Amino acid sequence: MEIQSMAMDESYLKALAAYHDLGNYREVFVNTLSKISTDVKLSGVRSCLSIGPGEGWFEIQFIKHSGANISKFIGIEPDHASAEHLRTSLRSSLPGAESQVLETTVQNWEGPSVPVDLITMFHVSFFVPAGERQEFLKKVRDSWLVSGGYIALVKAIGKNAPNGAHVVYERLGSPHTAWEEIEADFLNAGFTKHCAHEMHELIDLSSPGENLLPIFQPRFKKGLLTLDILRDACKGLEEKTDAFHMIAIFKRTN
Ligand SMILES: C[S@@+](CC[C@H](N)C(=O)[O-])C[C@H]1O[C@@H](n2cnc3c(N)ncnc32)[C@H](O)[C@@H]1O
Repeated sequence: MEIQSMAMDESYLKALAAYHDLGNYREVFVNTLSKISTDVKLSGVRSCLSIGPGEGWFEIQFIKHSGANISKFIGIEPDHASAEHLRTSLRSSLPGAESQVLETTVQNWEGPSVPVDLITMFHVSFFVPAGERQEFLKKVRDSWLVSGGYIALVKAIGKNAPNGAHVVYERLGSPHTAWEEIEADFLNAGFTKHCAHEMHELIDLSSPGENLLPIFQPRFKKGLLTLDILRDACKGLEEKTDAFHMIAIFKRTN
């Protein structure tokens, strides 16, 4: 019974891994981290809060490449299977750090008891509706982050590529928020932009399988997402479809 429910619960985790296996995002991401470590020195960073890290592969890579000396890590991850995998990865990847993974949503969490030096938000900006984003970022800035602390943000962006991966999200009814809008929200909430790099991934979305449905379901607002609807949304996309992401570091300067 226990094993059966664990297996079912792993659907999101497995879907995300299957999605990444269709493209070269992991490689592109790691290559970009060397540029970030040239732009910004995070050796003074001791504590990190990760919002929606999933199993944490990207967040741990970021920490390792950034030069941060993490002694305290907090993850906010509502998906149970992902949270379990994250706990295991943290034990081997950040063995000296005191780590805590809370299975809740960022909206339902009261925030850290002590402000942290770094917050990661990788592919999670769509949880907070546009109208509430600035207020959320102000709360994060004033109460969750130390003065001089950083936010590392990764966001999928749409570009003028006619058949880019962003069209799938548009067709499902959840177009990517423009990067300029997200950046403006951070600046208006009192952050300064330290650096930003665009990442260009190639991904095969020409014939998605059923295993990808958990990834796209949250982006489909009209009910249950079926494989037919997803395939329709991917119509015309090629085996090497362009997908663009932005990685940026924002700083709380006072
Ligand atoms: C698209 S995945 C990104 C995972 C990882 N950060 C990455 O870059 O690969 C989004 C993650 O956020 C988690 N999540 C969903 N809703 C959330 C919420 N309201 N608060 C915090 N995390 C959430 C999901 O369970 C999932 O693991």
